[in-house]
Amino acid sequence: MAAMRTVNALEARVRERLAAWEASGLLRVLRPPSGIDFSSNDYLNLASHPLIVERLVQAVAREGCGSTGSRLLRGERASFQAIERRFARFKGTEGALYFSSGFLANLAVLTTLAEQGDAIFSDDRNHASLIDGARLSAARRVVFPHNDVNELARLMAEAGAAGHRFVVVESLFSMDGDMAPLAEYARLCHSTGASLIVDEAHAVGIYGATGSGLLEACGVDAHTCISVNTAGKALGVGGAFVAGPTWAIDYLIQRARPFVFSTAAPPALASALDASLDIVANEPERRHRLAALARQLRSRLAEARVAVPTGTSQIIPIVIGDNERAVAVASALQAQGFDVRAIRPPSVPPDTSRLRISVNAGLSEETIGHFAVSLAGALREVGVCCAASS
Ligand SMILES: Cc1ncc(COP(=O)(O)O)c(C=O)c1O
Repeated sequence: MAAMRTVNALEARVRERLAAWEASGLLRVLRPPSGIDFSSNDYLNLASHPLIVERLVQAVAREGCGSTGSRLLRGERASFQAIERRFARFKGTEGALYFSSGFLANLAVLTTLAEQGDAIFSDDRNHASLIDGARLSAARRVVFPHNDVNELARLMAEAGAAGHRFVVVESLFSMDGDMAPLAEYARLCHSTGASLIVDEAHAVGIYGATGSGLLEACGVDAHTCISVNTAGKALGVGGAFVAGPTWAIDYLIQRARPFVFSTAAPPALASALDASLDIVANEPERRHRLAALARQLRSRLAEARVAVPTGTSQIIPIVIGDNERAVAVASALQAQGFDVRAIRPPSVPPDTSRLRISVNAGLSEETIGHFAVSLAGALREVGVCCAASS
């Protein structure tokens, strides 16, 4: 006799949520890449670069795959130390520490450095990993309006100076494509004794004279802040570097739980990252091309009367609002061979579902032109934000 299968309370609750998300256009499906890339973070087109692949393969052949342990145990390698020294030079900091993901690096920095009695001032558009890092820390969390330095200053003054204060921002915001006023934050932190923590996830490799990020581009003295630099986006590999003063790096090595209690990344990634930094140093034309293509797409979209927020970056959000319509536009573009994804809550605030268009240096001018026309057409089809071209 077939065993009777009963639905328990947990399964019922989960199924109900999944059904509700499906009904409101919020159910995610996992979809491998297909079509021309207008959605990834491979901004410099390095993820499949032959030099990086070759150096990775050689390193795997030499060193094997897994690291076999935490960096504090048998997982440590000279190659991690070498790439950290190189990355610190790249950022102009005393030290750097490599983590197996940017999410973990953000958790590590905030939960280790911020303590009870401290306050973390966090931009309201910050990435989930910064939000969770602040939540998991014992510090008080104060959320300030996006990019609003005056309101931040007011909130900091209001909060008083009980413990240490941290200002936490992304340098280039991942879902909005706009930039933080880093120089103003640096001045505010300097005058108030607060610490500035900057997530350079979408800027490292791209901005500044040497490509080290927006801190460099904004002229912020690298010694005055701690940055988190993911290596799986423009750098094309994976993991993330925390860059900052030696005392902060030494402290993270002792106490950052995502560092201490986690198996080190595959050591060959250090060699791949070395190749990636070679390319960033030797081929500035990649980031210049990226900037030119981003400008081109922004102006093509404006000509097609698509509402594009002001800015210059390679991340271009097209805010649609409604979940289903955002998915419909993304699907229409996918059907035309463009890999565009709809971004919906909770990744963005309610009623701001959007297409997050990202440009990469491997696209051609011709493709950018075709894409702009297709996007304008797809938006018009669902009656969104495009006035008919005259
Ligand atoms: C701003 C920001 N910070 C951190 C992360 C996490 O980095 P990783 O993907 O390496 O975990 C992301 C990833 O999307 C991000 O957009």
